[in-house]
Amino acid sequence: MDIIRTPAEMTAWSRLQRQQGKTISLVPTMGYFHEGHLSLMRLAADSADLVVVSLFVNPTQFGPGEDFASYPRDFERDVDAAREEKVDVVFAPEVDDMYPGEALTTVNVKEMTEGLCGASRPGHFNGVTTVVTKLFNIVEPDSAVFGEKDYQQLAVIRRMASDLNMNIEIIGHPIVREKNGLALSSRNTYLGEEDGESALCLVRCLKATRAKVVEGVIETPELKSLVEECINNHPGAEIDYADFVDSLTLQPVSVVDKQTLLVMAVKINNKVRLLDNGFIMH
Ligand code: PAJ
Repeated sequence: MDIIRTPAEMTAWSRLQRQQGKTISLVPTMGYFHEGHLSLMRLAADSADLVVVSLFVNPTQFGPGEDFASYPRDFERDVDAAREEKVDVVFAPEVDDMYPGEALTTVNVKEMTEGLCGASRPGHFNGVTTVVTKLFNIVEPDSAVFGEKDYQQLAVIRRMASDLNMNIEIIGHPIVREKNGLALSSRNTYLGEEDGESALCLVRCLKATRAKVVEGVIETPELKSLVEECINNHPGAEIDYADFVDSLTLQPVSVVDKQTLLVMAVKINNKVRLLDNGFIMH
């Protein structure tokens, strides 16, 4: 496995491989790998001849006062973990290599980025779509794998790739969870023992909502009250958003159907903001 540090070397490597007829799948990450990231790498290895994992904590997707400086990092551990997978290259550029001067160009997906995480994190998706475009241009992959844990991110990137004719297949991977149902996240490291029980509110809520839908309740105002009640029953859990949306457009729906996703962001003890989502008619 190679570690490549600069965009120029990364592009040269990819072009050489492609000249030799190899296909490449990219897994963009910010590191601090857990089983979720590793599963994405395995899916990438099933989808192409070669796998590139990018490891870059992207400053432009963090707002002022967010956790860019304290975001968990462990480069050596990540490299060891990637080595255990079928990963050919870890691409780990420095901030100055990715953003060498003032950039006048960004990539902005409208509408779909305004609600949900976009509402609580202004500018976040602009940072994500811009850095993912840069990674696509640097690595020139045939496909790229993203997790459904960040469902809005995946939907926005799919739309961007389609709108801008990127010719890169965007592959989604289901949410990887702990045994107790908690969705894995690098930020789970911020959770203390005392937060564990409250952190389970998201997965419990998904289950409770699915059960209610099976009983025949399909109007979202009633289901939303149930979600709010369920989360508020967990001490220290504070809803950032909890919405029933169409899985393609991310627009709110009033009656649920097979395409409806429950998407949630919940703050736990004012320390960490956790995301979860799921189709509720599955
Ligand atoms: P990061 O949070 O490191 O996540 C990297 C990828 O892993 C994303 O596609 C994310 O959805 C996926 N992932 C994280 N936890 C997961 C889980 N429990 N199950 C399945 N997939 C999971 O998302 C980012 O980085 C950045 O925004 C990035 C796309 C790299 C752009 O900077």
